[in-house]
Amino acid sequence: MNAPVSLAVPVHDIAPLRRFVTGFAGILDSGAGQAAILERGGNLLARLVAQDDWLPEAFARPHPERYQQYLLHCDSAERFSVVSFVWGPGQATPVHDHRVWGLVGVLRGAETVRNYRRREDGTLLQAGATGELRAGEVEAIDPQAGDIHRVANAFADRVSISIHVYGANIGAVERATYRDSGEERPFISGYANAVLPNLWNGVIRA
Ligand SMILES: [Fe+2]
Repeated sequence: MNAPVSLAVPVHDIAPLRRFVTGFAGILDSGAGQAAILERGGNLLARLVAQDDWLPEAFARPHPERYQQYLLHCDSAERFSVVSFVWGPGQATPVHDHRVWGLVGVLRGAETVRNYRRREDGTLLQAGATGELRAGEVEAIDPQAGDIHRVANAFADRVSISIHVYGANIGAVERATYRDSGEERPFISGYANAVLPNLWNGVIRA
């Protein structure tokens, strides 16, 4: 009998992302609450970003003017979505919120994070020192604890990439960006890509 012939040999083995997505769905299927989702999901994400060899080039490409958000996977019931954020040199988000739980894991490079809170007069104040998240590190976003922040590439001369997980189809969530005055502007991020990576490439069932 001849050995099975593969018609397409992927340049990147997508299996780590497939395992991550199925593992994350399993956490949600178990009925875990937000704290357990962030803890157990954060461990899964740490494993995913520990190795930078699985993200296909098409979802790692920077744009010369603005950071990119590529959807890698959206749960069929929109319970969670997985996004690669690609930061060109020096690129940054506006100050924004999320309104759902989130996890951020840096795959390549590093990013800086500034958290904000509202003063009594409604204006925004930076809360705590500017943090830095390096490759392999994971941070949680908890909307109950305050989720207004600004994220930037820590590098002025190279690309950084982080993998984000949110408790919704984040590209469709109505949320806000903020001016220094605290004024909110409605914001729906959408996604940069029209086509998703094939998580099931290379799967062979006996
Ligand atoms: Fe964010």
